[in-house]
Amino acid sequence: MAKYRIGILNGDYIGPEIIAEAIKVIDQVAKKFQHDYQLEYLEASGEAFDKYGEHLPQHTLEKAAACDALLKGPFGGPPEELNHPKWANVEQGAILPLRKHFNLYTNLRETRVLPALEDLSPLKPEIVRGIDLLIVRELTSGIYFGPKERRVVDGERESSDLEVYRESEIRRIAEKAFGYARKRRGKVTLVAKSNVLVSSVLWREVTAEVAAGYYDIELDYLHVDNAAMQLVLNPRQFDVILTNNIFGDILSDEASVLSGSIGLFPSASLGDSSFGLYEPIHGSAPSIAGRDIANPISAILSAALMWRYSFDGEQEASVIEKAVADVLAQGYRTVDLMTAEGTLRQVGTKEMGDLIVQAIG
Ligand code: IPM
Ligand code: MG
Repeated sequence: MAKYRIGILNGDYIGPEIIAEAIKVIDQVAKKFQHDYQLEYLEASGEAFDKYGEHLPQHTLEKAAACDALLKGPFGGPPEELNHPKWANVEQGAILPLRKHFNLYTNLRETRVLPALEDLSPLKPEIVRGIDLLIVRELTSGIYFGPKERRVVDGERESSDLEVYRESEIRRIAEKAFGYARKRRGKVTLVAKSNVLVSSVLWREVTAEVAAGYYDIELDYLHVDNAAMQLVLNPRQFDVILTNNIFGDILSDEASVLSGSIGLFPSASLGDSSFGLYEPIHGSAPSIAGRDIANPISAILSAALMWRYSFDGEQEASVIEKAVADVLAQGYRTVDLMTAEGTLRQVGTKEMGDLIVQAIG
């Protein structure tokens, strides 16, 4: 019997509420499939700042390294407190270092449209029906991690962030994208801006070299501005989108909303081993925290990805995903998923978690 060590980073505001529901689901799946697991609670972000004056203490990194996978809630504070030291530095102080420390260079963000939720999309049902795309975002390099500067030039302030990519960094993420495409519908769309950016020219060169080793996979290319437009005009053309850190950040928000609510979407961040970081793609939503109304599905589906990618548990992952789809098909909705349709039943965070646990059986 495998024993999985799962590190829990609760996150801020709605974080602990939705992670608690994901833990209920993990527990149910573990019982159903007779897996043994152990939770390690790790201090980070607001909670760690209050205690230690830093967002990602060394002891958290050390304990995390002893885990097989990490489940993380969203980090961050309310917009009106963003200058407060507790929240000002969460991205640079915790989120980015966590990704970098564990070399989690592959970020996977999938968008699918569940038939039960077609009505929620801001786009027409005939455009969104059948969307099934995977964004493979480079996560530990590019403009997020390149040299940054602020200076004064000719008496005025000037600043710069550099987009730097090495060939090897592009090659390893491109290899991942082609590998995933092979398990899906066999198409990779590279998104960059090679008409302007020389770093994008390198992405095109290296990706074409990688593609030569995958004769069965089609490689398409779009400039990022066009890709942003194509995502709303004809999203079904996409299977795997391969892109850099910053374009992936932007396009994944756009892609997530095609399906109706950002509250549904999980992500996986992986490196070269089975260790992974699993988290919702949305923020900590301070305005709805503590009211039992947040949608826990993004966290619950993050747990599904954990089984799939870190624990080699395709069956366990599918059982969770099917339970979520079934509960939604039965008409249960958290408030973010409500429409005027008469047969829907609004439920809170905990009840949604309970329903999904029951559906797993
Ligand atoms: C995301 C987030 C982060 C990012 C922020 C919070 C640093 O937007 O995971 O998409 O830009 O990567
Ligand atoms: Mg983002």
